[in-house]
Amino acid sequence: MNLLLPIILILPVIVNSQLSCPPNYTLVIDKCLMIIKTPLTHSQAETDCTYNGGTLVNIDSAIINRAVTQFASNAGINKTWIGLFCFENRNTSMCYYDDASGTLLDYNSFASGYPMVDGIYGGCVYMPTTGSLAGKWVSVKCEAESIPAICQMPVTSYDPTCVHNFNGYCYTLSSQLSNLSANFADARKICQDNNSDLVSIHSKREVDYIKSLYRGTIEPVDILLGAQQILPNIYTWVDGYPWEKFDYRDPMDRGAQDIDCLTMNSVTGLWTRAVCDRPLLFVCKRYITGNPSQTEVAPTENPSDFSNCNTTFLMTPGTITSYGYLSTSPLEVNCTWRIVTLGPYRVRLFFTDVDTYNTIYVYNEYGIQIEAVRYSRSVISRSNIVTVSWQGSGKSGYRGFRAVALTY
Ligand SMILES: *[C@@H]1O[C@H](CO)[C@@H](O)[C@H](O)[C@H]1NC(C)=O
Ligand SMILES: *[C@@H]1O[C@H](CO)[C@@H](O)[C@H](O)[C@H]1NC(C)=O
Ligand SMILES: *[C@@H]1O[C@H](CO)[C@@H](O)[C@H](O)[C@H]1NC(C)=O
Ligand SMILES: *[C@@H]1O[C@H](CO)[C@@H](O)[C@H](O)[C@H]1NC(C)=O
Ligand SMILES: *[C@@H]1O[C@H](CO)[C@@H](O)[C@H](O)[C@H]1NC(C)=O
Ligand SMILES: *[C@@H]1O[C@H](CO)[C@@H](O)[C@H](O)[C@H]1NC(C)=O
Ligand SMILES: *[C@@H]1O[C@H](CO)[C@@H](O)[C@H](O)[C@H]1NC(C)=O
Repeated sequence: MNLLLPIILILPVIVNSQLSCPPNYTLVIDKCLMIIKTPLTHSQAETDCTYNGGTLVNIDSAIINRAVTQFASNAGINKTWIGLFCFENRNTSMCYYDDASGTLLDYNSFASGYPMVDGIYGGCVYMPTTGSLAGKWVSVKCEAESIPAICQMPVTSYDPTCVHNFNGYCYTLSSQLSNLSANFADARKICQDNNSDLVSIHSKREVDYIKSLYRGTIEPVDILLGAQQILPNIYTWVDGYPWEKFDYRDPMDRGAQDIDCLTMNSVTGLWTRAVCDRPLLFVCKRYITGNPSQTEVAPTENPSDFSNCNTTFLMTPGTITSYGYLSTSPLEVNCTWRIVTLGPYRVRLFFTDVDTYNTIYVYNEYGIQIEAVRYSRSVISRSNIVTVSWQGSGKSGYRGFRAVALTY
């Protein structure tokens, strides 16, 4: 009689034949997880998890917390980074999930007194998985400790005909089809003949995933997107997905306004203008029936005509300008801006217009200067937090500056 017990215990908690995980990921409840046993700093762990379009594990309920703790301890690791970053002391509503699903709302498992982000503490979060603190969350300095990690990929639907299956969609590269490259109209027709449409992109993770499909090509390539300019600077996805959800256009793109197509660079992931008649590599994207595709919370748009002077928390995407930008008689006003993004990423600041008397300084999160900006260029932060500081001289004859911050 006792012999039956171990058999019952090893049955999976949920059996759902339609859910599926990418290679090397294990389905745990409703998440696809992979353990990296090698201890890594937080940024190394994030680099590894985002390599193919994942993030660190997102824990959003007590059930998942228990399952992840169990999964880790079964694999023999005593702690793991988790996909959460906190920006304020003891305020869980200022902790953001890595996978863009928003801030901590109903559930958290912080050890008493946490999160603490100042001084000896930090914004990155790990979870001991054995011992008395098993299942509790602790915030630490991101680069101070090396800890094993659990990566998460979106769960997808099983489809034996699909080679590149991600987050409920099947991606077919033009190299898998008879026509390696085609112009916009032909490429779209080829995709439609294959029951798909030209790719539309809805998140940084999806950018990372599509980049991973072209890793190994010798040169960066430009991939045609299923986007069309319908009015100057106004775009639409031809598959009908709302454009506002995610926009990764290169703010420094100098392409002419009457060029109506967009391509994605396979290395930077940024989108730039491209002539629609030019034959290009392309990707078709097909919805898989019954897909459990994860929705993302669209970041609140920051008004672009605002200086955002002295903001302490500007989440990407966003725009900052000098105080009184474009005014011919600017005021003598000093400003700092603290710009942040989700835990796995860095901030890329595109200084699209720089005409200032004083230099613009960019600092890392510890106040150490990383760049001095005199002309239009882009600056990549060292972590997910960056500070910009500028002294308005009040001298006339200078426009000031404008910078666009994107997730990198
Ligand atoms: C899965 O893991 C094995 C062994 O670690 C590795 O050789 C293989 O490349 C991995 N597959 C993918 C798709 O990452
Ligand atoms: C985990 O903790 C146990 C007990 O403290 C210890 O024996 C073991 O070596 C630890 N494992 C790792 C991988 O650190
Ligand atoms: C926590 O952060 C939220 C969001 O910024 C804010 O509304 C709230 O007042 C903060 N709570 C505390 C105790 O500081
Ligand atoms: C695709 O390639 C085939 C053969 O290479 C060619 O005949 C056909 O015209 C191409 N179709 C398009 C839409 O470019
Ligand atoms: C794409 O469509 C063509 C024509 O319908 C078909 O021959 C081909 O097998 C399809 N390719 C894929 C990868 O589905
Ligand atoms: C701006 O900052 C500089 C250096 O800290 C200071 O000398 C100057 O008085 C400040 N200007 C204003 C208007 O606060
Ligand atoms: C921003 O903060 C600095 C330093 O506290 C202050 O001197 C400056 O006046 C502030 N700027 C604005 C526009 O409020």
